[in-house]
Amino acid sequence: AAAPDLTGRHVVISAGGTREPLDPVRYLGNRSSGKQGYALARTAAARGARVTLIEANTGMTDPAGVDVVRVGTAVQLREAVLKAAADADAVVMAAAVADFRPLSYAEGKIKKKDGEEPVPVALVRNPDILAEISAERARPGQVVVGFAAETDDVLANGRHKLRRKGCDLLVVNEVGERKTFGAEESEAVVLAADGGETPVPYGPKEALADTVWDLVAPRLPAGASA
Ligand code: C5P
Repeated sequence: AAAPDLTGRHVVISAGGTREPLDPVRYLGNRSSGKQGYALARTAAARGARVTLIEANTGMTDPAGVDVVRVGTAVQLREAVLKAAADADAVVMAAAVADFRPLSYAEGKIKKKDGEEPVPVALVRNPDILAEISAERARPGQVVVGFAAETDDVLANGRHKLRRKGCDLLVVNEVGERKTFGAEESEAVVLAADGGETPVPYGPKEALADTVWDLVAPRLPAGASA
């Protein structure tokens, strides 16, 4: 059994991928399955934490003993994360959040008209939730963890992103065919703002999740909240 090193702690985890609607039947989305976020939720619960899992479009069954909040879009995810983070000891942003959303939503289905060229879709920037919660910690010492999927210069981009986002830990995954998205297993490096670098060998997403909690637990401030 896992060490109950998160007993008395409240952790907030986002999982899945946001969908940004264009009209009642279409959206801009991504390939996140939610498996890593759910693995984080299960392992945190096994280590004694009170867990709030904010899930976007995973279609997965609620893990036992975890509070689940369902959202669709990045804006909804932000609302739910900010609310849950207010009394959280740690926040882990495993969800793939769309960087942009359509500028406007069509109330009726967008139709193609014969002979007309396609209309470009105008996009606007979504809020960066990870950067926001890192900059404005809801409570002193709250530990914030982000994820980054990179295809090139994985470590250099990861280090840069860790600084830019201002989080404490950044889990950097290399993405590619059959890697990470939708897979049962992954390989990663966890970068720490205090300089640490923890490679996690190819293996189950549960093992990566446990490594994340191994790194979060000693960074938590003294005293429990949940
Ligand atoms: O910038 P990029 O999307 O690569 O950053 C990934 C990390 O930032 C993930 O932890 C993701 O949950 C978070 N993120 C966010 N809000 C956004 C975009 C990404 O919180 N709008």
